Amino acid sequence: MRILVTGGTGYIGSHTVVELQKKGFEVIIVDALFNSRKESLDAIEKISGIRPQFECFDLADSTLTDDFFARHNDIKGIIHFAAHKAVGESVEQPIKYYRNNLDSLMNILDAMRKYSVQNLVFSSSCTVYGQPDAEHLPVSERAPIKKAESPYGNTKQIAEEIISESISAYKGLNAIALRYFNPVGAHDSAMLGELPLGVPNNLMPFITQTAYGIRKCLKVFGDDYPTPDGTAIRDYIHIMDLAKAHVIAVERMIGERMKNSFEIFNLGTGTGYSVLEVIKSFEKVSGVKLNYEIVGRRSGDIEKVWADPTYSNNELGWKAERCLDEMTLSAWKWEQAYRKGETCFE
Ligand code: NAD
Ligand code: WQD
Repeated sequence: MRILVTGGTGYIGSHTVVELQKKGFEVIIVDALFNSRKESLDAIEKISGIRPQFECFDLADSTLTDDFFARHNDIKGIIHFAAHKAVGESVEQPIKYYRNNLDSLMNILDAMRKYSVQNLVFSSSCTVYGQPDAEHLPVSERAPIKKAESPYGNTKQIAEEIISESISAYKGLNAIALRYFNPVGAHDSAMLGELPLGVPNNLMPFITQTAYGIRKCLKVFGDDYPTPDGTAIRDYIHIMDLAKAHVIAVERMIGERMKNSFEIFNLGTGTGYSVLEVIKSFEKVSGVKLNYEIVGRRSGDIEKVWADPTYSNNELGWKAERCLDEMTLSAWKWEQAYRKGETCFE
């Protein structure tokens, strides 16, 4: 059973490929290596014993995408991770984001129709909810979609609409959109993890890089939010819990167990943690005292969001199992292994 994983050398994709191969799926990765490295393939092979097939090209190129599907007529499903994801950059270069994230999706949907590939899992994001009103926290899949805070967030909203309309128009197409909350952490082997280019935007890699001495000081963006300790709250989810949900989504589609031809699921733990709670967890599991300072709020940040995962728990039979300490510890083990040159990445 062959699955195409776009963006499969990236952070979430690479961990998912390991889980797919563990379950016996044959994986072919397409990635243009815009934000990932080929060494991911070595790491995947080291962990799982299987080197996935790999093709390097830009899925926003319709000719190359069509050519790929013409050459591979045995693809049973697609997990479409490939996208640009830096929120700040999307504000500065919106067209880059709309072009890449939407063209690649539309090229894939076109090819699915032309070459009769039925099943698509799409990487969506909790960013579609913006700041939910108090009555919608924890946020369920039925909560209203808020106007996107950034072009990146807008690509996810528009992508969900494009998928929904394509499914209504073209019979036989199925899709599952997975709305991730905040994925963090690394594979237990510490052979795979998050590898941000340059200065990290996200909290967890900034914490581990600061602890390792790569960054001087972590800036905590705001302690005047209406939360118990004043810092912002998010639903952090372990990358391996997230990866497993993708395998379940693929099995659900292939096993024809979907309730509708387009389903949407939240992937979160259901528990929100503040920035200071994440720092405390990190300090506890690592034994490292983190150098941090409180600064002003980061523009565009929401104050609090966490998932209501009831629908995914019940329908997918999936539940996030790993706690915050496991997330911070695995992120720390990965950072150290990577910096000491113990991984496949230079
Ligand atoms: P990532 O950058 O590590 O991986 C994405 C991969 O897609 C990269 O390897 C990149 O080279 C590739 N890519 C991008 N555009 C491409 C194109 N046109 N053709 C071929 N390859 C292309 O990001 P990630 O964290 O693994 O995110 C995966 C998906 O999940 C993305 O769609 C992202 O928007 C979504 N998502 C991520 C988060 C998060 O916090 N990491 C949260 C919610 C949703
Ligand atoms: C988490 C918390 C920051 C860095 C982003 C995207 C979102 C989704 C996930 C893709 C916030 C605080 C952070 C730092 C800090 N991605 N923080 N100092 O902003 O919740 O979500 O990634 O879909 O769309 O917006 O994640 O990790 O950047 O921040 O204090 O140096 O940590 O203010 O409260 P965020 P994050």
